[in-house]
Amino acid sequence: MNHAALIASAEAARGFAHAPYSGFKVGAALETDDGEIISGCNIENATLGLTMCAERVALFKAISMGKTRFVRCAIATAAEKPTPPCGSCRQLLWEFAGDVEILLTRDRQLLEAHRLQDLFPLAFDRTHFQPETTAQPANNADCT
Ligand code: THU
Repeated sequence: MNHAALIASAEAARGFAHAPYSGFKVGAALETDDGEIISGCNIENATLGLTMCAERVALFKAISMGKTRFVRCAIATAAEKPTPPCGSCRQLLWEFAGDVEILLTRDRQLLEAHRLQDLFPLAFDRTHFQPETTAQPANNADCT
């Protein structure tokens, strides 16, 4: 896979960003292990809190298309400082995409490349917990 195509896809998705509150438009593009590209942009709304980042839009789109294996994710902004994924996106990328390569880009230029593992060390994931299978139902004697 040519990185240029992935980076161009992230930049193109950035053009669809809906960011009237922050003015910060972000595009992201995920590459699957079989070379498909699925992109997303950030989508803000009036509550602000329901904003969705570009990376998660791309990730959820991909998962909803049955894609489960990824190799890299390009992120495109116009910011002077290279834009890495936020903490929430790091968590979800880690859980659903694994140790992918993260390409930080501007104007279709690659600025930095990182492994997600390096951006998100000591991640919490499903390897850290087991369901409490021995838990008993609460004693609701007062409610009977
Ligand atoms: N944003 C992303 O889309 N991805 C990130 O990883 C960082 C932040 C968006 C969310 C919000 O719409 C705007 O950038 C400012 O935080």
